[in-house]
Amino acid sequence: MRRGPSLRVTVYSLLYCLGDDKGKPYVLPSVRAAEKAIVTSNLDKEYAGITGVPAFAKAAAVLAYGSSSEAIKGDRVAITQSISGTGALRIGGEFLARFYPTKKIFIPTPSWANHNAVFKDSGLEVVKYRYYNKDTIGLDFEGMVADIKAAPEGSIVLLHACAHNPTGIDPSEEQWRQISDVMKEKKHYPFFDMAYQGFASGDTNKDAFPIRHFQSQGHQFCLAQSFAKNMVQFPRPFLHVYRVPR
Ligand SMILES: Cc1ncc(COP(=O)(O)O)c(C=O)c1O
Repeated sequence: MRRGPSLRVTVYSLLYCLGDDKGKPYVLPSVRAAEKAIVTSNLDKEYAGITGVPAFAKAAAVLAYGSSSEAIKGDRVAITQSISGTGALRIGGEFLARFYPTKKIFIPTPSWANHNAVFKDSGLEVVKYRYYNKDTIGLDFEGMVADIKAAPEGSIVLLHACAHNPTGIDPSEEQWRQISDVMKEKKHYPFFDMAYQGFASGDTNKDAFPIRHFQSQGHQFCLAQSFAKNMVQFPRPFLHVYRVPR
C-alpha cells in the first residue's frame, strides 16, 4: 500500500484586520488586551530561532487541533514560522513538491485568487475540482465529491477549512465526514487552508471541525493557518509539522 509522507504540516501566520463601519481595520478588544500584556511583560527579546517562538506555535496548534488533541499530546506536530498565510501555503506547496510523490494539487472552483499562482510557483500542477453551484448559489457537493473521487489516487487536495474564500459556502459537518471518507478511500493528501477560523460560525472550535475530524480519522495532512484576519495582526507566521506514526 502506498503511503504519503508521515507528516502533518501546519503552516500558520498571524494578524490582519476586519473593517469597521468606516472601512477601517477593526482590532478586536482581545487583541488589544494581548498587545498590552506583551508590552508589560518585559519580553527578553531573545532571538526567536528559525522556526519561531515555540510557545506561540504550540498555542496555534491547540487552536487548530483542540486542547485534547492526541497528536499534540504525543508531540507529533512540528511547527515553523512563515510569512503570513500566503507564505505558509508556499512553504507547504514547496514541501509537498519536494517530498510528496504526486505533484498534482486539486483546488476548488473558485478558490482564493492566489492559490493557483502560489502552488504553481511551488512546483505543483494545479487542477480544479467543482465547488460552487451558481444555480443554487450553494455548494456543488455532488460535483465536488465526484471530482475528488475521479482524481488520481494519492492526489493533493486543497480544502478551505471554513469560510471558503470567495464564496463563503462551506460543507456541513455531515458533508465533511463524507469528504473525509472519499479522501481516505482514494488515499488523497489533504492540504487545509484555514484563514478565517472563527469567522464562519463565530466559534473557533466549530470552525475547526474539518481539521479535527480529519485528525480523528487518521489522515496525514498539511494545514496553512493564517491569523491575518481573526487576530487582526500583521504577519508573524509559523509552520507546524505534525508527525503521525502508522
Ligand atoms: C483562503 C485564503 N487563504 C490564505 C490567505 C492568505 O492569508 P494571509 O493574508 O495571512 O497571507 C487568504 C487571504 O485572503 C485567503 O483568503
